[in-house]
Amino acid sequence: MSSTEPTYGILGVGAIATAIVTGLCDGVAEAPPVVLSPRNAERAAGLAASLPSVRVASGNQAVVDASDVVIICLLPADAADVLPGLDFRADQAVVSAVAGLPVVELAELVAPAADVARSIPLPAVATRESRTPVHPATSAVTELFDRLGGSLVVDDETAYESVSAASATVAAHFHHLGTIADWLVDRGIPGAEARRYVADTFAALSDELSSPEPDFAAMAQAHTTPGGLNEQFARGLDEAGVHDAVRAGLDAVLARIVAPR
Ligand SMILES: NC(=O)c1ccc[n+]([C@@H]2O[C@H](COP(=O)([O-])OP(=O)(O)OC[C@H]3O[C@@H](n4cnc5c(N)ncnc54)[C@H](OP(=O)(O)O)[C@@H]3O)[C@@H](O)[C@H]2O)c1
Repeated sequence: MSSTEPTYGILGVGAIATAIVTGLCDGVAEAPPVVLSPRNAERAAGLAASLPSVRVASGNQAVVDASDVVIICLLPADAADVLPGLDFRADQAVVSAVAGLPVVELAELVAPAADVARSIPLPAVATRESRTPVHPATSAVTELFDRLGGSLVVDDETAYESVSAASATVAAHFHHLGTIADWLVDRGIPGAEARRYVADTFAALSDELSSPEPDFAAMAQAHTTPGGLNEQFARGLDEAGVHDAVRAGLDAVLARIVAPR
């Protein structure tokens, strides 16, 4: 191990791994060494070509062998297939991004490595702009995500799974915005203009969302004129059961995450 920087090894170089590597190294003066698994060769080679501290290993075992901290960014089914065939070391740490893989099962898969933690990185780690939920708070996982915008330590594993369920709401948010834009198109606004208008409307709210202590009820209130149109629309959705459906949808996602596999 280098005296100052751990070597990070990444198994599974897809979307979330790319965001992590970019956040660790892009524009960082003393970027840590990063070793990538070779599958998805084009993506791995692209990262290695643009980021000097990144290299591609010859195989998954070579990633493990070279790493102080192994970051697992495989899909759940691939993790179950791949990890039992790899030899981990007791002196290395493991950080998993794999959804629905409990700490106990993760520890079994990477034994004798015992310093294991889970994380829910989002694409915004690429620009070091999002705090990442982690469990438990090993020094390896908090040091990793402190480089990437910060760690949100969740001590209870069930509560941690709930945060994972909450992170599954992003696509639905864009469907909501798309529905508004499509409605405008149906009423004669050209598609590109409708989508630009909706995107601008919501992008303008990002300053409010970046408040250190966001208060969603207060934000809604600030955009509500009593008896006005925002109030009417919000009440209509509530009466239609949309917010109950959001809660039920989160319950269903959580049930899937914690279901025995
Ligand atoms: N995307 C997110 O926002 C997000 C957020 C939090 C957590 N996660 C979790 O992070 C994990 C990865 O998600 P992702 O969105 O990054 O998925 P992804 O884009 O599909 O990346 C997975 C990568 O693993 C590679 N792979 C498959 N089998 C492999 C093997 N035997 N050895 C090495 N690499 C292998 C795949 O290569 P091929 O393409 O060639 O199959 C692919 O490049 C998932 O468990 C997910 O639950 C994702």
